[in-house]
Amino acid sequence: MKHLPRTFLSLVLGLLASISLVNTAHAQDQIRRGRALLQEFCTPCHAIGRTGVSHRAPPFSQLGRNFDLDQFPRLLERGISSTHPGMPEFKFSEDDAHAAAAYLRSIQR
Ligand code: HEC
Repeated sequence: MKHLPRTFLSLVLGLLASISLVNTAHAQDQIRRGRALLQEFCTPCHAIGRTGVSHRAPPFSQLGRNFDLDQFPRLLERGISSTHPGMPEFKFSEDDAHAAAAYLRSIQR
């Protein structure tokens, strides 16, 4: 029983490590899904990458300058449409909205 504490400790550490691995994988999934969504719906007008210039609309890599990206999922769920004409209205489910926001957060510059 002398080794129990150490064994226990390494068990706990192993468990913690695997939890954070799962979390990271989940975050990566979300970002990937968000990117796919925005690519499907927004690329005709917006540059959705970390770099890139769009001509008709603001590039997404700069959205964080005008928007609080923590509030952005709610905006997407409620239905986002620009104040200017030319952008159709989009409504996202809660999951999709969070995925899209996770992606946007990952590309801000
Ligand atoms: C048909 C073209 C078009 C598509 C598709 C489009 N947008 Fe836009 N969007 C625009 C234009 C044009 C503007 C700039 C309007 C302006 O200057 O306020 C804009 C502006 C925005 C803005 C900034 C609004 C503001 O008030 O500053 C956000 C955020 C945005 N779009 C998000 C999205 C998202 C998210 C998608 C995909 C789900 C999307 N757009 C798809 C044309 C489009």
